[in-house]
Amino acid sequence: MQARRCAVLVIEPRERLDFDLARLTQGGSGIEMMLDSFALAAHLDEEQTLDDDEVRILGKLSPENWVDFDALAAEHPQEVLQSLVSKGLLLCDSPAHAKLRHADEIVRAGHWKGLSAIVQRHTRWGGVDTLEAERRFGEETDRPFLDRLGTPEPPVRERVESGQRMALGKPADSALESLIRQRVTCRNWDTSRPVSAQDFAHTLYRTFAARAVSDQPGIDVMKRAVPSAGGLHPTEAYLLVQNVEGVAPGLYHYHPIDHALEPLGEVAAAETQALALRLVAGQRHFMKAHVLVVLASRFRRTFWKYRNHAKAYRAVILDAGHLSQTLYLAAAERGLAAFITAAVNERDIEQLFGLDPMQEGVLAVSGFGWRGAEQVDEAEFDPLGSVWRNSV
Ligand SMILES: Cc1cc2nc3c(=O)[nH]c(=O)nc-3n(C[C@H](O)[C@H](O)[C@H](O)COP(=O)(O)O)c2cc1C
Repeated sequence: MQARRCAVLVIEPRERLDFDLARLTQGGSGIEMMLDSFALAAHLDEEQTLDDDEVRILGKLSPENWVDFDALAAEHPQEVLQSLVSKGLLLCDSPAHAKLRHADEIVRAGHWKGLSAIVQRHTRWGGVDTLEAERRFGEETDRPFLDRLGTPEPPVRERVESGQRMALGKPADSALESLIRQRVTCRNWDTSRPVSAQDFAHTLYRTFAARAVSDQPGIDVMKRAVPSAGGLHPTEAYLLVQNVEGVAPGLYHYHPIDHALEPLGEVAAAETQALALRLVAGQRHFMKAHVLVVLASRFRRTFWKYRNHAKAYRAVILDAGHLSQTLYLAAAERGLAAFITAAVNERDIEQLFGLDPMQEGVLAVSGFGWRGAEQVDEAEFDPLGSVWRNSV
């Protein structure tokens, strides 16, 4: 049997509090600080705790060369090697390891910068309910928010005295300014009114559609409404449609060149909100949006050019921001409202749409629909009274 270490691995020493009743009875506080080592691997969802021998030996195993397991066992304690095999960090060429090897191969083929791969793999959530967590946190501490956190950093870092600032003229109102003012993150939805097929198509077109495709031989590059590193536009829109005229509730992929929907499965109308709630990690104020849009990036599309590149992952994340802002403005143009959230259950979304996290990573969930008449679910931030005129 041949073996080699996984491709991308970070070992993080982390301190935790350990409580021991015996220490308490001996007169101490009972609390001791413990240092553990955690292995974060780019092909594994779960982190693994390591003992000192495992840390030491991991540092000696090649991630490139397959080596005969018996030869490794001649150099290192067999029980330590076996433990690393069982933790999925030392990969074998046996059929039993096929799934792990496949996950590792995906990382290798993806041209990932190691640290970016670790961030992508290990910042994903599954089954998290953020509102429930907030409620529990609120119950555990009765101190007001500001007391707990202190005041935030000021809104501006002022570099000179106010008298030294060069005042700039303000632009006149314009169509763009008016759309910008309508852009208020929506947390209250009017479920009694479906989004029309036309408004739905409009919003998707403005945000995601290719206006043109360049005809460089072998490299199809889309021209979209937003900029993208290398013009590669890795970010796809996956939809959970809840309430759109003429579009059955369900899962879809948007095709940006054909400006068309690819149906991926119907969802019973009565079940879409519960599904939406799971995707947005329990944020009830987003679950009734008429359309939820998962922004998922095909890393390989960008990393094809920016291989093992320190900036590539950041560039992909920036793409999602551009698309989100354009979605807000495109929705506003039709009188619709939009939202974005990064607090999402990536693992649940991957499962739903069949996405591998290292090939097509969920970066955020956005969405749009009709704003409700009242702020019942959650307050919105509209100090200008642009959309909540009566509330100012
Ligand atoms: C990257 C990103 C993540 C966000 N995540 C959340 C979120 O998890 N939940 C939420 O209610 N709003 C979220 N928002 C919306 C912000 O809370 C909102 O933009 C902010 O309150 C300012 O309000 P405005 O968008 O109406 O100006 C997010 C916005 C961005 C850009």
